[in-house]
Amino acid sequence: MTLLDSQLEELRRATLAAFASAGSVEELEESRVGALGRKGTLAQISKEFGKLPPEDRAQLGKLLNSVKQDLETEYEQKKRRFEQTELTDRLAKEWLDVTLPAPGVHPGSLHPITQLQNEIEDLFTSLGFAVLDGPEVETEEHNFDALNIPPSHPARDMQDTFWLSNGHLLRTHTSPVQVRGMRKLGPPLRMIAPGRVFRNEEVDASHEHTFYQLEGMMIDRDVSVAHLIYFMKTLLSSIFKREVTVRLRPGYFPFVEPGFELDIHCLICDGAGCSVCKQSGWVELMPCGLVHPNVLRMSNIDPEEWNGFAFGLGLTRLAMMRYGIDDVRLLQSGDLRFLMQF
Ligand code: DAH
Repeated sequence: MTLLDSQLEELRRATLAAFASAGSVEELEESRVGALGRKGTLAQISKEFGKLPPEDRAQLGKLLNSVKQDLETEYEQKKRRFEQTELTDRLAKEWLDVTLPAPGVHPGSLHPITQLQNEIEDLFTSLGFAVLDGPEVETEEHNFDALNIPPSHPARDMQDTFWLSNGHLLRTHTSPVQVRGMRKLGPPLRMIAPGRVFRNEEVDASHEHTFYQLEGMMIDRDVSVAHLIYFMKTLLSSIFKREVTVRLRPGYFPFVEPGFELDIHCLICDGAGCSVCKQSGWVELMPCGLVHPNVLRMSNIDPEEWNGFAFGLGLTRLAMMRYGIDDVRLLQSGDLRFLMQF
C-alpha cells in the first residue's frame, strides 16, 4: 500500500463522515468542494498520480475512481434527502384548503320578481302565448286613447301620470303592449307582456312610483268568460302550487266590457276569514274582462268576427304575497340583506 493509497482511504473515510454530519445543504456542499472540487484533495492526489511508476498506476487508478464514485453517490443521496425535507417542511407550512369558499364572494340569485316573471312566462309559453315587449316611454295614444280612454275621460285620473316635456309619458300600465301586439300580429292572438310601469305616487310601504305588471290577452273567435276563468285558474294554481278557488266581481276599466275584479279564496285561512283577507275570506287579485269592441276596432280588428279577454297582473304585488314581503320599497332598495334571501 503506497502513501497515496492510504491518503485516498483517509479521504474517503473523512469525507463520508463529514457528509454524514452535515446539518445543511451548505455544509454538505462545503465538504464536497473540499474533497471533490477542482482544487480539492482528490484533485491534488490525482496530480501525484502521474509521478508513479506505470505498474502502480492501474491499481491506484481503480482506487481513485472508486473513492470518487463513493463520495459522489453519497453526496447526491444526502443532497436529495435535504431537498425532500425542505419540500415537506414548505408544504406543511404553506398548507391550503382549496375547497374553502373564497372570502367575500357571494353567489348571485335572481330577484324575486324576475323569478316569478320567468315562471309565468314559461307557463304561458307552454299554452301558446307569445311574450311581447313594449317601450317604457309611451305615446299618449298607446297608453290611453287606443285603450278607449279619450283625453276628457275621467278614467285618466285613475292613474297619476309622469308626463314628459315632449308630450309622451312613462307608461302607467302594461296595457299599451296589447295595442302594439294587436296592431303588429293581428288576430288570432295570444300574448303576455311583463314589464315596468310608473305612477306619480307618494311612496310608502304599499305604494311605489315604479313597479311591475304582467299584461295578458287572448283574441280569437267566440272567446267567453269561461275561457278567461280557465286561464286565470291555471295561472294562479301554477303560481301558488295548489288548486285555487276564484270568483269574479264587476269592475270598471274602460278597455274591457264586461270588466271584473278577480278574487281568490284566501290561501292563508282557506276562506274562514283572517287578517290577510280582512275577515272576508277573499283576496282581490287581478282585474280582467272581455276586450271592449272599441279597443279591437282601434287596432284594426273587426269586433263582429273576433273577441277576447285581457287581464292585468300586478307582478310586484304578487311577489309580495308569495314571499310575505310587507314593504314594497324593499324590492327596489338594492339592499343585499334583503336580496340574498332569494
Ligand atoms: N291596466 C290596468 C291597470 O293597470 C289593469 C287592467 C285591468 C288590465 C283590466 C287589463 C284589464 O288587461 O282587462 O290599472
